[in-house]
Amino acid sequence: MNIKKENFLELKKIEKQIKECSKCRLHQFRKNAVPGNGVYNTKIMLVGEAPGRNEDIEGLPFVGQAGKLLEQMLNNIGISRNDIFITNVVKCRPPENRDPLDDEIQTCKPYLFRQIELVNPKLIILVGKYSISTILNINIKISHIKGRTFVKDGRYIFCTYHPAFILRNYSSYIEEYTYHFEKIKKIINEFF
Ligand code: URA
Repeated sequence: MNIKKENFLELKKIEKQIKECSKCRLHQFRKNAVPGNGVYNTKIMLVGEAPGRNEDIEGLPFVGQAGKLLEQMLNNIGISRNDIFITNVVKCRPPENRDPLDDEIQTCKPYLFRQIELVNPKLIILVGKYSISTILNINIKISHIKGRTFVKDGRYIFCTYHPAFILRNYSSYIEEYTYHFEKIKKIINEFF
């Protein structure tokens, strides 16, 4: 798979725009904006919620405890985080790690939508309710949608829990989380 040069260049441009963005209040609190990390030339994207404290310091997504679990889950099914593109719905850390507000999501989501168009993945893994509601444009409890696969714009969209939730409820949910990642592996093996 080879990404078109113009797509690559536009993705780089978007990265710069995100780093300089001041469209919503969140820019006032950030140390670093977090455009995303990994490779643009990939069939798999993973979308989280918003950067936390460690992500804000490093300018990279999922580098804290939740990120470590995510990386482990990916590794278990033979995927390295360096082989996919990882980003968030909101690119700057909400203060005190509060949930992103609707106006912040609405302001930031054009960056995500364009990143998806340009990377053009076959599979998008959505972790947590904010990425699910933003990408699928639905308001639904995660308990009703976790583990399900949708097809949208010709892409597989897989919905699962946020890794921070699993860390908080490890013994009750790790088995189901493992099963979700096995389902992801099946999608890749069957359809890629
Ligand atoms: N949680 C997220 O949703 N994204 C990150 O990048 C880190 C923690």
